[in-house]
Amino acid sequence: MTISRRTFLQSTIGGLVLLNLPLGVRRLSHAEKAPALREFHFNASVTSANLGTGNDFLAWTYNGQIPGPEIRVREGETIRVILRNDLPEPTTIHWHGLPVKNAMDGVPGVTQKPVMPGETFTYEFAARPAGSFIYHSHVNYQLDQGLYGPLVIEPAHAQNAYDIEFTVMLEDWVMKDGGGTANTMRRPAMGMMHGTGLRRRGIRQGPGPLLEPIYDGFAVNGRAFPSIKPLQVRKGDKVKLRIMNLSSATIYDSALAGHTMTITHADGNAVTPVKTDVLRIGMGERYDVEFRADNPGSWFLAARETGFGEGTLRVPIQYRGVRSADAILPVFNRRMRFASYGDLRTREPSNTALLGPAERVYSQILGGGMHSPYWTINGYVYPDAERLLVERGERIRLRYSNHSMMPHPMHLHGHFFNVVNTSLPRELWILKDTIIVNPMESIDIEFLADNPGNWFHHCHNLYHMEAGMANVIMYAS
Ligand code: C2O
Ligand code: CU
Repeated sequence: MTISRRTFLQSTIGGLVLLNLPLGVRRLSHAEKAPALREFHFNASVTSANLGTGNDFLAWTYNGQIPGPEIRVREGETIRVILRNDLPEPTTIHWHGLPVKNAMDGVPGVTQKPVMPGETFTYEFAARPAGSFIYHSHVNYQLDQGLYGPLVIEPAHAQNAYDIEFTVMLEDWVMKDGGGTANTMRRPAMGMMHGTGLRRRGIRQGPGPLLEPIYDGFAVNGRAFPSIKPLQVRKGDKVKLRIMNLSSATIYDSALAGHTMTITHADGNAVTPVKTDVLRIGMGERYDVEFRADNPGSWFLAARETGFGEGTLRVPIQYRGVRSADAILPVFNRRMRFASYGDLRTREPSNTALLGPAERVYSQILGGGMHSPYWTINGYVYPDAERLLVERGERIRLRYSNHSMMPHPMHLHGHFFNVVNTSLPRELWILKDTIIVNPMESIDIEFLADNPGNWFHHCHNLYHMEAGMANVIMYAS
């Protein structure tokens, strides 16, 4: 079916039945031909890996690689992934950020039965909308063991306003054994320890949730410094970076020496370009940034854990034909400007914003840590959690208040949401699928219930999610 964006917006505003289009569709194909099918085979298995440091450990991988193979397709194509499970545990794949049909969302016990060892499962969904996405296992601590990869959907109509692009996946690792359940050195769940950089030895407490490991390796696209592959640019290039945080438990501040970064997309959605010195990126978030390669020399794009450190992640930027010297690191200091959610404006108003204020409000109090191994929403520990009922076509507001001492990147499956910003008109509110809620902060999001099913909603700190910080949005009709 062919439909123009304007007709789509008008029909939703007119209260007609919502077409089964994801929120935030920005460019609809005018072509009538059947969409191309793009098929991928993923084999999940335990593989010996190293991050280029010569330090081998056992990781869990798709097709033996870290990260998993890139899925890169055009908007409107159909993605089919045939997953074969050669792991010793059940598994699934979740298409993070993509508003797929519920049955394809990959959450065990919510949208599908887990894929058992030796079994195969076929995922198939429309590649829509265009943008930077990720995929990962949604079982236990498997993401932390290496089961993730990039998913890039290019716009249906080429409109590359840049010369070259790179995907930059930020990852935290325990190199000794690949992290996750095998590791016994753990960061305490107590939030107080986090900001101070204090670490202490923790242990698994019976059958309860695991505490965060102490990460000793930070990698970009599966390589740790100094073996991170340099980004090769030519003088004059307009460079696009798709920065994605696939870490299990690390929020980064990243900065680029010698150049100015401009944010163009947040979680795949176009924003009015905004310059920033520092990009803060939580687990599950993606930002597209651009810079002009107009300063030949040797530079680093560096990322550090929020609040402390020098920048453990260092990606060299290398100009072709320029002799490489000692690369220069960005200096993190308090004067650096950092674009917050409030500084971003959407470039394409979404249907939720245009439809008017929310009809139903759910307050979501984020708690836990301190002396408890559990993390909670409204005091509940998943799976003994609330079910948030919604009706199809309703506009829902989630009102987050973080009563804990740790930041929580909250992620909603199956929908994009608007970040409520009372100082801006609704039509400028940005669209995202993951948002950091800082300690003691309150922030609201709104989404349109236009994708029926049961949808997982949780903190994207894997250790918080597994320790209860999750619930399910359920369509009543
Ligand atoms: Cu990145 Cu529930 O997912
Ligand atoms: Cu959390």
